[in-house]
Amino acid sequence: MIVTALIVAAGSGSRLGGDVPKQFQRIGAKSVLAHAVDALASHPRVNQVRVVIGKGQEALAREALGQREVGELIVGGVERSDSVCAGLTAVEGDVILVHDAARPFCPPDVIDRLLDAFAGHDAAVPVLAVADTLARSDGKLGEAIDRRNAVRVQTPQAFRLDALRRAYASWAGEAPTDEATVARASGIDVVAVEGDVMLDKLTTAADWARAEFFQEARMI
Ligand code: CTP
Ligand code: MG
Repeated sequence: MIVTALIVAAGSGSRLGGDVPKQFQRIGAKSVLAHAVDALASHPRVNQVRVVIGKGQEALAREALGQREVGELIVGGVERSDSVCAGLTAVEGDVILVHDAARPFCPPDVIDRLLDAFAGHDAAVPVLAVADTLARSDGKLGEAIDRRNAVRVQTPQAFRLDALRRAYASWAGEAPTDEATVARASGIDVVAVEGDVMLDKLTTAADWARAEFFQEARMI
């Protein structure tokens, strides 16, 4: 079973801000993108890593990646799902792990749980329980959602490559925010495995501070 990691790094990082998009900024000695690549490439069950970047970001990406072996850089699109689709047409393998560059720290145990799930399933995603109260809202607070029936869904998300390609080809909705949504809609049974707080996405300045803490405390 050839396992390919596809890291999407074509976003503009508008909510975090900074001189360059967040995936090219450094946490400790290396860029966020380099952390993400290393976390996946160093796993013994991951065979190859490919990276999707934004148009015109080749120089930034090459600098952020250094000598890391990621093959030819793939050019993404306007929405995250456009970037994933560009990646899906360019990569090879049996199983694909689609991962956000904005999640620089991926514990190896999570990858093991995702790949172990392929013994009985065709797709797996990491999830965490929700700690806050959840409710519907359109500005005015609506009905509460029982948080015991809800989870936070992270990446990497694991699928059979051909099945995920077919799922995206038949997707007719708005730009989805992850692959599990697309896979489920096409009838794929997606199993949930335990995620990890280290995988929480860097979206805001507070997330950045947390990631620097993880790095400085040598929790990764
Ligand atoms: N991404 C991508 N292509 C896009 C948009 C996002 O590859 N057109 C990637 C980002 O680089 C990131 C991941 O998808 O690794 C998750 O997206 P998000 O956290 O929303 O990052 P940005 O879109 O860059 O940030 P923002 O929404 O704040 O602008
Ligand atoms: Mg975004």
